[in-house]
Amino acid sequence: RGKRAFIAGVADDNGYGWAIAKSLAAAGAEILVGTWVPALNIFETSLRRGKFDESRVLPDGSLMEITKVYPLDAVYDCPEDVPEDVKANKRYAGSANWTVKEVAESVKQDFGCIDILVHSLANGPEVIKPLLETSRNGYLAAISASSYSFISLLKYFVPLMNPGGASISLTYIASERIIPGYGGGMSSAKAALESDTRVLAFEAGRKHKIRVNTISAGPLRSRAAKAIGFIDMMIDYSLENAPLQKELSAEEVGNAAAFLVSPLASAITGAVVYVDNGLNAMGVGV
Ligand code: NAI
Repeated sequence: RGKRAFIAGVADDNGYGWAIAKSLAAAGAEILVGTWVPALNIFETSLRRGKFDESRVLPDGSLMEITKVYPLDAVYDCPEDVPEDVKANKRYAGSANWTVKEVAESVKQDFGCIDILVHSLANGPEVIKPLLETSRNGYLAAISASSYSFISLLKYFVPLMNPGGASISLTYIASERIIPGYGGGMSSAKAALESDTRVLAFEAGRKHKIRVNTISAGPLRSRAAKAIGFIDMMIDYSLENAPLQKELSAEEVGNAAAFLVSPLASAITGAVVYVDNGLNAMGVGV
């Protein structure tokens, strides 16, 4: 049997999650995705109407199949955690079983097990605010959606994961170097995600033989990145200063992710792997 992957954080064909799905599908994996509840309707409609067909084309000419799309909100672990106003919101009320625990239960019911878990989601409501102007709630929300969400996903999906399985997340160099403009506690959230990658690699490795890595990706013009507001500047900066002077494609990150969750990377765990045209290695701009 081929491997089965659950990819959390796919809501269009522009982001890293979609590219990782494609690379995994090209390598023969079955693809399940988790889509943020408020984005679910438009994503499913667009998929059904063929809006993504051009981006679904795999290297062999076939189209990527997404076996199932699950509604997901990774800031809630179980139904008891969901506040009344969210429950009543019509975008949420239209879907069911979208807390992390329930999604894992649904995947278990539908498919029994998975081999690969991908976390490709982040959210920082105050990302455009400098850290000094970030509220406590904004900071905690960034950590909840962007860091704890990975702990939660791994916690509830590990019991469904076959030994030898692997998980991956996406991080950004703002965790370790100053990137003005990446505010709202998002830099802190990525630092937490990278630290957690090491501790979770130990815990999931010892207990379940599961590997945990994170990719520190260079800039991509995704929906989330456009909301931050400085993505074009970051892409230009990288083009000018990185060792490899080319625009980073989402596919390059997808391919690195496919490697890291494959048996080719069977001794790699707890690592932050840079897929950024080498920009992280520069000390000064030139
Ligand atoms: P994206 O917009 O394609 O992906 C973010 C996804 O997170 C969206 O689909 C959104 O619906 C989903 N999401 C937000 N809150 C959620 C929640 N509570 N529950 C479930 N899903 C939720 O954008 P992108 O940029 O591809 O982001 C994917 C990952 O890549 C993120 O972790 C991001 O921080 C990381 N990254 C992005 C870089 C970039 O330049 N685009 C650079 C380095 C890392």
